[in-house]
Amino acid sequence: MASHKLLLLPGDGIGPEVMTEVKRLLAFFGKAGIVDFTIEEGLVGGACYDTHQVAITEATMAKAQAADAVIFGAVGGPKWDNVPYDVRPEAGLLRLRKDLGLFANIRPAICYPALADSSSLKRDVVEGLDIIILRELTGGIYFGEPKTITDLGNGQKRAIDTQVYDTYEIERIARVGFELARKRRNKVTSMEKRNVMKTGVLWREVVGDVHAREYRDVQLEHVLADAGGMQLVRWPKQFDVIVTDNLFGDMLSDIAAMLTGSLGMLPSASLGEVDAKTKRRKALYEPVHGSAPDIAGRGIANPIAMLASFGMALRYSFSMSREADLLDAAIGSALAKGLRTADIKSEGAILVSTGEMGEAIVGELERLASP
Ligand code: IPM
Ligand code: MG
Repeated sequence: MASHKLLLLPGDGIGPEVMTEVKRLLAFFGKAGIVDFTIEEGLVGGACYDTHQVAITEATMAKAQAADAVIFGAVGGPKWDNVPYDVRPEAGLLRLRKDLGLFANIRPAICYPALADSSSLKRDVVEGLDIIILRELTGGIYFGEPKTITDLGNGQKRAIDTQVYDTYEIERIARVGFELARKRRNKVTSMEKRNVMKTGVLWREVVGDVHAREYRDVQLEHVLADAGGMQLVRWPKQFDVIVTDNLFGDMLSDIAAMLTGSLGMLPSASLGEVDAKTKRRKALYEPVHGSAPDIAGRGIANPIAMLASFGMALRYSFSMSREADLLDAAIGSALAKGLRTADIKSEGAILVSTGEMGEAIVGELERLASP
């Protein structure tokens, strides 16, 4: 039986609750003799700060470097609003992304038929939606220097964030986008703000060059990011793969999440470069939703984005696309049975807890996987 090393980082808020459902899934895979996952667990975010006064420790970073995949819950919450900026909970996640070189963040937005009425948009706008937001994750304004607040001495302060992109960063994310599109509906939409930002000018130029050199068979369009946000809520089905920078990708993927019914539905994969020798790549899988401190500890969080993120690990890290398809089908069938956590509750549906939803999905998987 294949064996893979996982590092689980539940984090804060609802992170530990939804991670419990991943453990339920792992137990199933072990019991069914499908694959053997070796599991380590670590602290990240506020949970780590409370014990170690940092957002992630060196020991946990070393485990992340050594793991075949990192499975991440969520970080942050009002409890840590006043901790020093460098050790705020989010710093742990950002360090993982940067140090592991996870430049490609794949955020699929799929609207399950059973949820088409949970979206705040009309059914015909979202029904059957299946798009990917591909977000550049290790560059741009998140990491650019300088990043400072300076006291100007006259009662004024000046804050600076720096948006910076080099050609190679745009090239490699563009390639991931074109490769993804080739396996789907063969269309890439690149979003930037070339009308006000130099990085936008370069972004468009480089994406266009990569397309002209290597991917002429793929349809490419360039859209300004603000207009793209508008089109995402007007008629999202016009898109296939949207490729965009770190900050625009952060915002556009939250918008895309709502098209699927709830932020509790959107999984993500963050991938590094494929190592030429080992053919492996570093990877981290996390739900797009945050730590949701307002509902933490009540057992009502939606575990689907977390479970679907693990499904992406099966697909992108472990070449287990059959199991990943089965897991997606299990999620679809739990929803089709009318089971709903509070965030996606609709008229006539059966309200379930985090654990009940996880149990139902794993139960469906067991049924679908048995010969
Ligand atoms: C996300 C989150 C993070 C981000 C936060 C938690 C740092 O919003 O993954 O979308 O801004 O990238
Ligand atoms: Mg975000």
